[in-house]
Amino acid sequence: MKIFIVGSTGMLGSECKNVLSQDHEVICPDKREVNIISWDVVIESLTVVSPDVILNCVGFTDTEACEKEDFLVRKINIEGPRNLAQASARFGCKMVHISCGHVFDGKKGMPQPYFEDDAPNPLSSYGKSKMESEIAVRSNSPNYIIIRSMCLYGVNGKNLIKSILAKAVGRRPKVLKMPEDQFGAPTWSYRLALQIRELLEKNGRGTYHATAVGYCSGFEFAEHLLNQLNIKTSVEPCSLKDLKGPVAKPANCLLENRLSKKQGVNVMVDWKEDLDRFLEEFGEELIKEAKQR
Ligand SMILES: NC(=O)c1ccc[n+]([C@@H]2O[C@H](COP(=O)([O-])OP(=O)(O)OC[C@H]3O[C@@H](n4cnc5c(N)ncnc54)[C@H](OP(=O)(O)O)[C@@H]3O)[C@@H](O)[C@H]2O)c1
Repeated sequence: MKIFIVGSTGMLGSECKNVLSQDHEVICPDKREVNIISWDVVIESLTVVSPDVILNCVGFTDTEACEKEDFLVRKINIEGPRNLAQASARFGCKMVHISCGHVFDGKKGMPQPYFEDDAPNPLSSYGKSKMESEIAVRSNSPNYIIIRSMCLYGVNGKNLIKSILAKAVGRRPKVLKMPEDQFGAPTWSYRLALQIRELLEKNGRGTYHATAVGYCSGFEFAEHLLNQLNIKTSVEPCSLKDLKGPVAKPANCLLENRLSKKQGVNVMVDWKEDLDRFLEEFGEELIKEAKQR
């Protein structure tokens, strides 16, 4: 397959580039080469490349900034995906778009997970923009895959592991407070890239959930992470409502990978198994990086 990946310099996009280039031809323009908010640029580049698949790993993912930057959020998270979806229809190729569990309000009682066909009801600007991006993709691309994931971490880009380590071992250590009433399945971006490859190769269609198996609270996650890395900093449990900030966050972030399981294409594994492997491979590098922050 010839796969046109936008957002390939980001956390998930860089993993997709590495994983998909093993067996497929990948074309990975950066933002300066293809800014997805420009319809003309998107059409011009796709005319040249003529791919089988457009994979959109672009996102305005800073949830706090999303509350203030209405214009940019709309451009990057909604109009960009709409451009790509319309282009996929024009060029007759498949569109893969990444969405997020923030489309749900997280009010389901634990441990009830969200299914692919549950009604979205986002709490934040980021969540609303991801919900609208899904609508734009569904209504414009005749052959799409939408993948909702949650709590991603990886070696590239900003993520929760890096911000925990910065607080624990960084130059200006801070008290580490993590919610014991917010639950999710921390998911390695590398594993999600493997799931994307599987869905592409098995000709998946429609909306899929793709998160790690099992779940934990934010507090349990931080404790496990620091224990595995032998860092003695203690973590204080708190409640989601004690964490001040402009963004309303869902408490229950559990997504069930129902469709991929039903179709026999689910490749996600237990969150601890992947996290431990990730830390074994990258833990030292991440600690070194955090100490310089
Ligand atoms: N992070 C999570 O926990 C999480 C969870 C679930 C779903 N998702 C979704 O997964 C996707 C990828 O997230 P991520 O965390 O990997 O994002 P990320 O690390 O912030 O990367 C975003 C990428 O988008 C590029 N980009 C931004 N604006 C662009 C534009 N106008 N045109 C072209 N490229 C542009 C960035 O390029 P520059 O680096 O040059 O700016 C970067 O390569 C997003 O759709 C996000 O909503 C993320």
